[in-house]
Formats: sequence, C-alpha cells, structure tokens
Amino acid sequence: MRHQASYLAVSALFCSTLIATGAAPAAAHGGPPPIPLPPKTAVATGYGGAVASVSPYATQIGIDVLAHGGNAVDAAVATAAALGVVEPFSSGIGGGGFFVYYDARTHKVTTIDGRESGPAAFTSTVFIDPGTGQPLAFNDAVNSGLSVGVPGTLMTWQEALDAWGTRPLGEELQPAAKLAERGFTVTGDFNGGVAMNQQRFSDITPTAQLYLPGGQVPAVGSVFRNPDLAATYELIAQKGIGVFYGGELASEIANTAQHPPMTPTSDRVFRPGVITAADIAGYTAPYTAPTHVSYDGLDVYSMGPPSSGGTTVGEALNVLTQLKNSGWQLNYTTQAQQVASLQAYLEASRVAFADRNRWVADPAFENVPTAGLLSPAFAASRACLISPTKTLTSPLTPGDPNNPSTTCQAQTQQTPNTSTEGLSTTHLVAADRWGNVVSYTLTIEQTGGSAMVVPHRGFLLNNEMTDFDFTAIHPPAPDPNLPAAGKRPRSSMAPTIILRDGRPYLVVGSPGGASIITTVLQVLLNRLDFGMSLPDAIAAPRISQRDRSVTEAEPAFLSSPLDPALTAIGQNFVPAPPAFTPAPELGAATGLEFLGDGRIQAAAEPQRRFGGSAMVVFPSPSE
Ligand code: GLY
Repeated sequence: MRHQASYLAVSALFCSTLIATGAAPAAAHGGPPPIPLPPKTAVATGYGGAVASVSPYATQIGIDVLAHGGNAVDAAVATAAALGVVEPFSSGIGGGGFFVYYDARTHKVTTIDGRESGPAAFTSTVFIDPGTGQPLAFNDAVNSGLSVGVPGTLMTWQEALDAWGTRPLGEELQPAAKLAERGFTVTGDFNGGVAMNQQRFSDITPTAQLYLPGGQVPAVGSVFRNPDLAATYELIAQKGIGVFYGGELASEIANTAQHPPMTPTSDRVFRPGVITAADIAGYTAPYTAPTHVSYDGLDVYSMGPPSSGGTTVGEALNVLTQLKNSGWQLNYTTQAQQVASLQAYLEASRVAFADRNRWVADPAFENVPTAGLLSPAFAASRACLISPTKTLTSPLTPGDPNNPSTTCQAQTQQTPNTSTEGLSTTHLVAADRWGNVVSYTLTIEQTGGSAMVVPHRGFLLNNEMTDFDFTAIHPPAPDPNLPAAGKRPRSSMAPTIILRDGRPYLVVGSPGGASIITTVLQVLLNRLDFGMSLPDAIAAPRISQRDRSVTEAEPAFLSSPLDPALTAIGQNFVPAPPAFTPAPELGAATGLEFLGDGRIQAAAEPQRRFGGSAMVVFPSPSE
C-alpha cells in the first residue's frame, strides 16, 4: 500500500508544473511514472550484503543487484552509475576516482587507479596566464576547458567488472538509465548542488538547459529527468566503452572543452581547453597495489599515489602508533584525555600533510617514496616533534622519508602553502554475501565540476586538473604536483579497507577534497581508539588540520569546551567552509563494519549532505 501511495503522490507531481526536465523532450505523459524516493536511514544492520552511499536511490539500486545474485563489484558499479544520475554534481562518467577491492577468494586487496589524466598538450605552466606570468585565479581555472582531464570513471567500472564482476557493464547501467529516463525526486543535496552553481551553470548553454529548466533551480520534491544521460548510458550499454574512449563521445567531450558552449549573454571569460579525442582514446585505468600499514594489529589498506589518501592516513596512523608506544594515551574517557587525544590527532595530521605536500604525486612521473613515507622509522622521526602542551607552527618543513632525520627539531617554512583544493566528490561502500568488499571514492572535483555538460549527453565534465599545483607551493623546494602531459594530479581520496586477522573488519571513505584524509583518519580514531560505534564515529563533529596555520572545525566542535582547551595549547580553529547544507560541514562519510557474528553494519551520515543512505539485503530482526 505504501508503494501505491507514493506511486500516486509522484504521479501527481508528474502531471504538475513541478516537473523539471533536461534538454531532451520529456518522456511521454502517461509513460512509466517517476521512481519514488526509497526510504532513507543512515544505519542498517543485517546479512546478505550491504551498500551505503549518499543517496537512497543509489543505495537501493546496489542492494537490488546484491539481492538478485550480483556481487559487491556489480553492486558498486550500479550504485556509482546511479550516483551519476542523482548526485551528478559530485560524480559521473565525466570524472574519475579510485576503486579499492577486497577479494574474498584470494584474501587480497587490489586498487584501480581511475584518476583523470592531463591532456598531451599540458606543460608545467599550463595554468600560468601568459599575459601576466601569474598563476590563474583558482576559480578562473575551475571555470575553463583547461581544467578538464581525461575521464577515468567509465574505464574504472569496466576494469572492475572485467576482473571481479559477474555481469556486463551494459546490464549494470540499466537501473541508472531507467532512473534518468523515468525521473526521480529532487532532494536537498541535488537542489543545493544546482543552487550553489546557479551563476556559472547559467553561463553554459547545455548546463543551463539541463539543470536550470525555465531558469530555475529544481525544487526539492519536484521530479527531475535526464533523458540525455539515459540515452548515453544506453549507447554505452549497446556499443561498449569504446564509444567513449575513442568513439563519438570522445570527440564530443574534446569539442566541448575546446569550445565551451557559452550562453550568448554570458560575459564570463571561459578559457578553452586542450584535451583531444586522442587523449581520451589513450586512457588506461591500471590495477595498482594498495598502501598498507599496521595499526593496533589491524591491516589498513588504502589508495596509493597519485592519491595521497593512503600514504597520508597511513603516515598519520604510524605517527600515532609511535606516540602510543611512547606512552601517549588515546581515549575519550575524560575531557583531559579527549584534549590529549585530539592534540595527537591534529599534530599527526599536520606532519603527515607537510610530508604529503612535498612528496606525493603521480608515481609515473615523480619518484614518490611511498615505502619511506609509510615506514615506522620515518614515523618515529616525525612523532618526536609532537608535544601534548605545544602546537607546531605550520607550514612545517617536510621530513625526508628517504633519509629520516636522527635529530628531532621542527622547522617552519617561510612560504605559506598556496595550494587550493575544491570540496566535492562522493564515496560508496559495498559488500556481498561471499565477503567481497568495495570502497570506492569518485568525483568530478569541484561541486559541479567544470560546469560544462556535454551537449545532448547529460553529464558534466570534471575540473580535476585544478588538483595540480599551478606553481610550486613552497619554492625553492621542488613540487612534484605540477601539471604535465599524461600526468595525474595528486588526489586526497582515501577509500580504505581494514582487515582483522585477514578478514574484512572496517570500511571507510569520504568526499571533501584534502579534508577527505582528516575525515577518514578521524572516523578511524573515533572507532578504533575512542570507543565509538561506527555510526557515532561518522556522526561526531569533525576538525581538519592540514599543515595550515588554522584548523577547520564544524559548528558542534566550535561550541564545545574542546575548542578553548585546545586553543590554550596553540591550536587555532576556524569554521569549516560552506557546504551543501546551511551549516558548514567536513566530508560525508560512508562505512561498513563486519560485526563478527555474520552481520554487517552499514553506516552513512545522519546529517551531513542532508543525510546518506545505508541498507542491507536482509535486515537483522531487531531492525
Ligand atoms: N578532487 C578531490 C580529490 O581528488 O581528492
């Protein structure tokens, strides 16, 4: 009955003026009704597999795949394809990401590097304005064809399915194509994603036609369709990914970036891009080794370079291990212990970020000392800088993981860190009844990417190339993250899988640009050291220190007694940047915990990004 009620409610919307429709004609009235919004809960516990993502539509699609015999990889790809429909401002086939997979048969963790790559015409000065000799303003680079890198998401899906899936990509795309074709209910994050981009979306003809129908931001509760994206998914389903990596879609992507389709009235300077169809045809998404550290007897696996997620979370955990070995207690039992624990967390993150900024980049182009960054000897040389009563001064001089210091002296760099990183992205987790697990973070970089929808194709192009540093951030120190042809910009994505005794225990990831790293680290500490349940670990207020003079903090932290207590020992908190929701927030995590009795607990955000969605195939009886 409930299904029928929502059918009628949504059917009523279908016939009303609330309908928002993309560029192509709407499905015929009287055709299949829009798909009702599934019920949304942030926590689910049970059996048979689990999925968590930011959207109940996407999570439900993943659960349906599991319920019909698909495995975690099948479910992850179907969920990701659905996020491209209902959360298109954070992810989609115009972007890239990192896929981390635990295989229950081999007990191995493998990763896929689906990061966007620089066009062949890229040089280290591509983001320098030739007129002024100065780096482009960050927003001018975001809003340009230059920011568009070769997308890796579709190739990632194909590689994952080829290696570990049980179904063809075309089949995995069907539920998302149906969602795009029939329509879905506009939620707060979708509405917010358009609202925060309204000005620049209105400058690009296909983007304005799709996401600002009638010049308006689609209202929460209205129905949105994207028939162009449905047709694009169908085209890929029929022809395979060659139509994207070399076929008509490659030409159209390149043409869009090279000739940004501005509205006639726009006076925005939107620099043309240099990406070509040949760049797209040459793309690969390689299988790579994960990063690995031990923490409290657990095996922590995450994404290696070009992401800095795995090395930076891993180095910080190693530093915390060193602090614990020297007698520093991490727990949350008294306020004094909370202050000491958070001081350890903030300072471990500060030193790990200083090292990340100096050393981590695309390993195909730079000599990235991954093993050194994750070595206990290096962690010891960095942990010794940290004090419970005095805060380090940022930006710190990085350590040398190739030759860890034997003396212990903190130094501050003279030049401030000038790098800028956007805040978007999305994370999903999936597990199946056989014990396979996926932790997958994907993005189009900025919320809304480059703002360019490929005409008549229904998806946004990324602006991932702005994750390169435009100039060296700490001259004269070398900066490994300068742009180059074919190079992948450094990421912060940290899709993480933790094993206990060789079996999956905890799975976590988050969006949030560079704050992804601190979100993942803080959720792990909340769960592993501070005694919180996974849902509480995700919900708890966040603070993010990234080798800056200030530490970003959410409002609930700023109004707590922990703020003055940590300020008294030198920390300096500022409000987190504005986000989708009216309140500033950091990240939007999803996670899984294997409870040890056969049940899985799936968890998403209760509040951030308007709340995420966790589901299991068979809920526990008490659920
Ligand atoms: N664009 C966000 C990241 O790569 O971390």
